[in-house]
Amino acid sequence: MTAGWLEGRRALVVGAGSGIGRAVVDVFLAEGARVAVLERDPDKSAAIGAALPEVPVTVGDAVTRQANDAAVTAAVEAFGGLDVLVNCVGVFDFYRSLLDLDADVLDVAFDEMFRTNVLSHLQSVKAALPHLQASGRGVVLLTESTSSYFPGRGGVLYLSSKFAVRGIVTALAHDLAPEVRVNGVAPGGTLGTDLRGLPSLGTAGSSLGDIPGRAEELASRVPLQVALTAADHAWSYVFLASDRSRGITGGVVHPDGGIGVSASPRKRS
Ligand SMILES: NC(=O)c1ccc[n+]([C@@H]2O[C@H](COP(=O)([O-])OP(=O)(O)OC[C@H]3O[C@@H](n4cnc5c(N)ncnc54)[C@H](O)[C@@H]3O)[C@@H](O)[C@H]2O)c1
Repeated sequence: MTAGWLEGRRALVVGAGSGIGRAVVDVFLAEGARVAVLERDPDKSAAIGAALPEVPVTVGDAVTRQANDAAVTAAVEAFGGLDVLVNCVGVFDFYRSLLDLDADVLDVAFDEMFRTNVLSHLQSVKAALPHLQASGRGVVLLTESTSSYFPGRGGVLYLSSKFAVRGIVTALAHDLAPEVRVNGVAPGGTLGTDLRGLPSLGTAGSSLGDIPGRAEELASRVPLQVALTAADHAWSYVFLASDRSRGITGGVVHPDGGIGVSASPRKRS
């Protein structure tokens, strides 16, 4: 039997209860990593604990320093250190343009979006950093989006928050070298996740995964004509967490069906 790509690696996955984070947990374990998680939703956390008793689960809000410190402590106590920090936390704005946002709600919606999508990423890296530096092969993987690069697949708050995550990858890759590599994964629209909206916009109970016809819609707008799942994206995280990407920092993998080359339709004779 060949060794897994992440044999011996010790990882913390933040936002691991469903969707992309949950798929990352499964494939990291399959590739030989030991994995701890931080997740806000108590039911999703309990489900991970029941399915994967070897995984230390911390229930808490990744926006806070306290929850991230607790999750890092749990991981380090269980594994003796930490090599990889993955953050898959995120919320969505269901395509609201500035035209559709009431002025009254803008400041609260901004805070909700940026605290969850941006501050949680900074907090998790900050909490893990001493251990990632001590690892000698530390890796940070943050979840961007096609919305970190292109308009149209989210509203103005989601897009700007995802551009900010892209900025964090660039800034931290610069600041944390050579001890820690920092890269992003920028998935395209994804099937079967539970990406939620914002309380202030009345969409906290809505899930992007619930939209009817999403598979056909996703496939129809990318050159590769694929509708990708969280499990598809998880392999990009495996590559960037492994020593096979040891020369890569400040980079990004785009598992998105080729959206970057779809600007104009291909001419056919
Ligand atoms: N679904 C898509 O089409 C898509 C496309 C591109 C990028 N993304 C990004 O991928 C990431 C994962 O999204 P997903 O679609 O898998 O959604 P998801 O909701 O299924 O997964 C996110 C997980 O993070 C948890 N979470 C949310 N806020 C949290 C907090 N403050 N503290 C702790 N845990 C928290 C959620 O409970 C959930 O388990 C997000 O950053 C999202 O923006 C998603």
